[in-house]
Amino acid sequence: MAKRRRRAAWLVMRVANAFFRLAGNPVEAIADDDEWRSWEVDCFAMLHGPAYGAGVNPEGTPVVSVLPGGDLSRLLGTGELRPRHLAAAGLELRRAHEFHSSYYAGRWSHSDPHTGNFLFDAATGRARLVDFEMRHHRDLPEARRHADDLLVMLQDVCGRCERDAWLPLAEGFLAGYGRREIVASLEPLLRVPRGIPRLWWAVRTSWMSRTELIGRIAGLRESLGRIVGLPDGDGCGGPPRAIISARSPARGHCLQ
Ligand SMILES: Nc1ncnc2c1ncn2[C@@H]1O[C@H](COP(=O)(O)OP(=O)(O)OP(=O)(O)O)[C@@H](O)[C@H]1O
Ligand SMILES: [Mg+2]
Repeated sequence: MAKRRRRAAWLVMRVANAFFRLAGNPVEAIADDDEWRSWEVDCFAMLHGPAYGAGVNPEGTPVVSVLPGGDLSRLLGTGELRPRHLAAAGLELRRAHEFHSSYYAGRWSHSDPHTGNFLFDAATGRARLVDFEMRHHRDLPEARRHADDLLVMLQDVCGRCERDAWLPLAEGFLAGYGRREIVASLEPLLRVPRGIPRLWWAVRTSWMSRTELIGRIAGLRESLGRIVGLPDGDGCGGPPRAIISARSPARGHCLQ
């Protein structure tokens, strides 16, 4: 499939980047078309090749293989998103975070891994990442970039799921991700800010009321200790096996 951008995308992105700076969001949309093309193709090939390919067609448009499954945003929208889907997304994000990136001179991060950017294949229970149009600031420490990726997904789910579904979904995702030191480092990020940063949180959480949002985020903060305190199921520092096997067909396996 061809990945196209609107004609004035660069302008939209420059405005978005100005807003991100004001809001303290540590990412930038890749405004330059050439840079975006190579980032889109390189990231796709790195994560999904050689089984799935990516390249640029003669018109200069990035073309990527169609990945199996449907995106998690659709499941979230219809109320069908379950912890096992998010556990698979967490596991895939963990795998993606293992790749070295010369751009970051460290391990790679996505910077926009919300539910719409994960495809889930029900036949295999596997999730895959798409949409490489944004990047973290290069000077942000690797661990902070990885924690920010977790936060992006959590904000999206938090703003759009039923109240009772929130904690099981969030825990499924974090258990699937399974890197305790990164999950623990989320604690200071789980604070709903004020001012312009609050505006960005509002966008990310689908304009959920502040009271509801604070309640949900506080609930997750409280359960973080329990999540990171779980013993390893398999001794490899991976996702606790009890949670993954109960909730996901994508069972935890050692990635490090
Ligand atoms: N390689 C792929 N295989 C299958 N589906 C894909 C692939 N890439 C993207 N999609 C689907 O297309 C949707 C939009 O693509 P993508 O996220 O890359 O671009 P976007 O900039 O978010 O586009 P849009 O603004 O149209 O949402 C994804 O949510 C996903 O459902
Ligand atoms: Mg997208």
